[in-house]
Amino acid sequence: IFKNAFLQIPELSKCSVLMRERCRVEETIYNMQQTGPENLQVISDFDMTLTRFAYKGKRVPTTHNILDNRLLIDENCTKKIKKLLNTYYPIEIDARLSTEEKLPLMVEWWTKVHKLLMEQKIRKDLLAQAVRESPSKLREGYKMFFDHLAEQNVPLLIFSAGIGDVLEEVIRQNHVFHPNVNIISNYMDFDHTGVLQAFKGQLIHTFNKREGALAHAAHLTELKGRQNVLLLGDSLGDLTMADGVSNVQNTLTIGFLNDQVEERKELFLNSFDIVLVKDETLEIPNAILKNIF
Ligand code: C5P
Ligand code: MG
Repeated sequence: IFKNAFLQIPELSKCSVLMRERCRVEETIYNMQQTGPENLQVISDFDMTLTRFAYKGKRVPTTHNILDNRLLIDENCTKKIKKLLNTYYPIEIDARLSTEEKLPLMVEWWTKVHKLLMEQKIRKDLLAQAVRESPSKLREGYKMFFDHLAEQNVPLLIFSAGIGDVLEEVIRQNHVFHPNVNIISNYMDFDHTGVLQAFKGQLIHTFNKREGALAHAAHLTELKGRQNVLLLGDSLGDLTMADGVSNVQNTLTIGFLNDQVEERKELFLNSFDIVLVKDETLEIPNAILKNIF
């Protein structure tokens, strides 16, 4: 019977799709199909998961890097943020380091960047323009992904260590900020004149999403009673995004392996049910959803 469910997803046979346990994937999709969209919730990372990693040979900016616009920050600040990126990003994706080793360094990175941003007196009313002028790009197939979930009333939780205000503007400008979307992220705190003065709440970085999940996602009432979880991410840290969901029956995790492919392939294969190698599209998640609906 599982073969049957599988045959309807020919996309899974593409050579960019890797699976450690094909049978488990088949069985999970079959189970999700049986219980239907009313029992499903989707939890997704944002940067480099819903957005592209690269486009026409150039890196696509993350929500943090979208702020790199003279409207918002000066040249000196750009230089400092770039330097921090060059120092800390290689650590974030280093396959030889454990999460425990990375954790304090990620806190350091985010804290330093947020401090620099706060010094720039960023204006809330200029954020939308900065997003419009940025080369930010959602993955190919994003419209179908967001629209289908909204049509089926399937909640989509976007869980991002990026900047929430920027993230919202990106999906708004792409016309996919539908009512089924919930966001957990780092939000800017503006003073009464609309100038950035701080970041709200507990800092979220790549490797503490579990705490964020327990603090926030666990309280989202629309997610209660939906025991099937489709999870999308591009970092091992993203796997803890579903930790706030109680009574999970079926979980299917999809990992986008964008960078350091050979070094991280093994690790990703052992951690995600499906690994997508240098796939800049949402074709696979869309094919799976089509099968469940
Ligand atoms: O949405 P997501 O959780 O993926 O957002 C976090 C990503 O943003 C990290 O993977 C990191 O590489 C990136 N980042 C960045 N600049 C920072 C901090 C994080 O580009 N200052
Ligand atoms: Mg990401």
